[in-house]
Amino acid sequence: MALGEEAGAEIGLIGLGTMGANLALNIAENGFPIAVFNRTVEKTRRFHAAAGVLADRVIPCETLEAFVAALKPPRAIILMVPAGETVDRQIAAVRSLLSRDDLIVDAGNANFHDTDRRDAEARQLGLPFLGIGVSGGEEGARRGPSIMGGGPRTCWDRVAAILEAIAAKYEGSACATWMGAGGAGHFVKTVHNGIEYADMQMIAEVYGIMRDGLVMTPPAISDVFASWNNGPLKSYLIEISAEVSRAQDPVSGGPVLDVILDRAGQKGTGRWTAIEAQHLAAPATTIEAAVAARNLSARLEERMSGQAIFGAAPQRLEAGAVNVEMLEQALVAGKIVCYAQGFGLLAAASQAYDWSLPLPDIARVWRAGCIIRSSMLNEMAGALADNPGRNLMFAAHFAEQLKQTQESLRRVVAASSLAGLPAPALAAALSYFDTMRTGRLTTNLVQAQRDFFGAHSFERVDMEGAHHGPWRKD
Ligand SMILES: NC(=O)c1ccc[n+]([C@@H]2O[C@H](COP(=O)([O-])OP(=O)(O)OC[C@H]3O[C@@H](n4cnc5c(N)ncnc54)[C@H](OP(=O)(O)O)[C@@H]3O)[C@@H](O)[C@H]2O)c1
Repeated sequence: MALGEEAGAEIGLIGLGTMGANLALNIAENGFPIAVFNRTVEKTRRFHAAAGVLADRVIPCETLEAFVAALKPPRAIILMVPAGETVDRQIAAVRSLLSRDDLIVDAGNANFHDTDRRDAEARQLGLPFLGIGVSGGEEGARRGPSIMGGGPRTCWDRVAAILEAIAAKYEGSACATWMGAGGAGHFVKTVHNGIEYADMQMIAEVYGIMRDGLVMTPPAISDVFASWNNGPLKSYLIEISAEVSRAQDPVSGGPVLDVILDRAGQKGTGRWTAIEAQHLAAPATTIEAAVAARNLSARLEERMSGQAIFGAAPQRLEAGAVNVEMLEQALVAGKIVCYAQGFGLLAAASQAYDWSLPLPDIARVWRAGCIIRSSMLNEMAGALADNPGRNLMFAAHFAEQLKQTQESLRRVVAASSLAGLPAPALAAALSYFDTMRTGRLTTNLVQAQRDFFGAHSFERVDMEGAHHGPWRKD
C-alpha cells in the first residue's frame, strides 16, 4: 500500500508553505502522525525528504483523495494557505471528499468577517469548522506558536490536545486558547497584528530619534536596545531590534540597517484592525497611526519631492532635550497606551459580536510564541483579571507606570516635533493619554456647531434633556 493510503494520521495539513511546513513538523515532533498535501506535488516530496527523523510520522500525499484516506476518522484538517478566496476554494475541494463530522480548521490570517461567514455556512450544513489565528512566524510555527481559536467550542475541544501540545509554553501553560464563537479567534489575531504594527512603529520612531536626533551609530543603538531588553520593555521585538541594529551587511561592509530601503508594505491585518476600531467606535489611534505610517513610508518618491520643496527638517535634537533613558520611558508609556487601546477594541468587539472574549487569557496567550510577546503582557494579564471592563491605563500598576513615564513621552514627542522628526505613533499615544485624562474637552463647541447648522440639539451641564442654542435665524 502506497504512502497516503493508510488511515493512520491523527491530523492532516494542506499547504506546505513557510507556516504550514513548520507547523507540520511541530505537530509530528509532538508525537502526532500527520498527513500532508500541497498543491505543488514536488514541494510535498521535498518536504518529506527533508523531514529527517520526523519523516516516519509524516504521510506525504500527492492527491486530495489519498490525503483524506490517510486520515483517521473523524478527520481533522488544517488549512495553511493564503487567506481569501483560496481558502474558500480549498474548503470546497476537500469538503466534497469528507464525511459530515470531519473538521476543517483554517489556520491562515483570515479576515474575521470571512471566518464568520464560513462558520455560518458550515453550521447551516451541520459541518464542523474552526478559524484559528496562529502567530509567531516561521520560528513560532516550528517551535511553538501562539494560537487563538474561534468557532464551536466542541470543535475546538476535538483538536485542543494537539494545538496545546504544539503551542508555545509560558511557565508551563500552553499559549493556545479558544476565544469564542465564529470569527473570534481571527479577530483576536487581527488585533494582535495591529498591536504588532504599533509596537514596531514606536520602536522605529525611537530608533529614528537616536539615529537622526542624537546622531548615534547602529551599533550604539543596538547596545541601547539590548540594555532595554533587561528592563520593563523586555520583549521579542526589542530583542530583535538590538540584533538587526548590530548586523553587518556583507555587500557594503557597513551596518545592514543603513542599506535597507525605508519603505514598508502591509498585508492587511493592520488595516483591518484600524477599520474595526473605527467601525466599533473604539479608537486605536496608536495602531491607526502605525498603519498610516507604513502607507506613507511606501510613498518614497512623493516624500523625496516633499524634501526637495520644503527641505529636510533640522532633525538633530537640541543638546540635552532627550536622552536614552527618556526614550525608554516614552516607549513604556506608548506601549501601555497602545495595549490599552488594543484591549479596549477587543472589549468593544466582544460586546458588539456577543463573544465574551477572555481578555486576561488573551494577554496570557500572547506572553510566548507570538511576535508581540513581552514580560509586560504577564502584568497585563493580571491587571485585566483584576479590573474587568476598565481601561488598562487605569489599572493601579499601569496607572503608576504612566504617572512615572508620561512626562518622558511628552518631552520626546515635543522634542521630535521641534526637530522635524516624525513620531506619529508616539504622538498618537500621547494625545490619547491626554484626552483620556481630560474631564472637559472642547467638544462642547462641536456640539454647538452641530446644533447651529443641523439642529442636532445638545445636552447641558446644568439641566437634563435635549436643548437648542439661541442661534440667529437668517
Ligand atoms: N509567514 C508568516 O509569518 C505568517 C504568520 C502567521 C500567519 N500567516 C498566514 O499563514 C498563511 C500561510 O502563509 P505562508 O507564509 O505559509 O504562505 P506561503 O509560504 O506563501 O505558502 C502558501 C501555501 O499555500 C499554497 N497555495 C497558494 N495558493 C494556493 C491555491 N490557490 N490553492 C492551493 N494552495 C495554494 C502554496 O502551495 P504551492 O506550493 O503550490 O504554491 C503554499 O503551500 C497565510 O494566511 C498567512 O497570512 C503567515
